[in-house]
Amino acid sequence: MKHMPNLKNFSKEELIDMIKLGIDIKKNPEKYCNKLKNKTMAMWFEKSSLRTRASFEAGMTQLGGHAIYLDTSTTHKKANIEDEIKCLSKYADIIIARVFEHDTIKQMQEASKVPIINALCDTYHPCQALADIMTLFETLKDPYKATIAYVGDGNNVCNSLIIASKKLGIKINVSTPQNLKPDIVPDFWIKNPVEAVKEADIVYTDTWMSMGEEDKKKEKTAKLKNYQVNKKLIGNKYFMHCLPAIRGQEVTDEVIDSKKSLVFEQAENRLHIQKAIVLKLLDVV
Ligand code: CP
Ligand code: NVA
Repeated sequence: MKHMPNLKNFSKEELIDMIKLGIDIKKNPEKYCNKLKNKTMAMWFEKSSLRTRASFEAGMTQLGGHAIYLDTSTTHKKANIEDEIKCLSKYADIIIARVFEHDTIKQMQEASKVPIINALCDTYHPCQALADIMTLFETLKDPYKATIAYVGDGNNVCNSLIIASKKLGIKINVSTPQNLKPDIVPDFWIKNPVEAVKEADIVYTDTWMSMGEEDKKKEKTAKLKNYQVNKKLIGNKYFMHCLPAIRGQEVTDEVIDSKKSLVFEQAENRLHIQKAIVLKLLDVV
């Protein structure tokens, strides 16, 4: 049994396989519509969500299965997490979890009898990174020759994008302030965003305040003010963002609404790639 805590425990071949499956599912959804008949997904959410929740739920329905959404503000706060996961793995065939701390994912993995998928934690967002790479594969003729420039806060989305890009041999320049560098060390850290995007095909950014960091708003806005992705910075390059975006902060309307913006393709691909992830982890395809 394999979990998806981040993408570190997947080989390059496994990731390519999953992306190819995601692309096939997108083209031929009917081929897969009964693959998860009578299968149940439990969805553990400690934080808010729109895309992750809706795409996993819709995905399970479209594969013939069912998903149970669990908002942890309505489950037992005093309960031992291992006990709760042991119970959930009696009911569900697979569990996705959006949590504050990555250690919670580790605890869940220890207790679970079924695969655990990290649906975002403080350090990683693997499903997002796979949807993003799938989008890159669909958009560019030779994705392996592409350069991505990630500009802004070195957060969970940035960490997972670095892991996925490195595994696949895709170059990624990361441009963050010195004290907001990602936990995963990139091959190319370039403090100056202008330098970082110069040779990039795609410029990626994310919110400056991740969930749980609301109290750091003033401090982070000050540090990141020169990292806004605007037309002057990226010209006519492709733009990516995992959403939700704070328009006027990390990105301007002009960039996010431009013809080169891939944000809704990324959001759509969450649905397809997550079906592929679930089918692979359940060993169905
Ligand atoms: N990109 C993403 O994970 O969006 P949600 O927080 O809405 O799920
Ligand atoms: N970095 C953001 C991503 C939201 C999808 C957060 O953790 O809030």
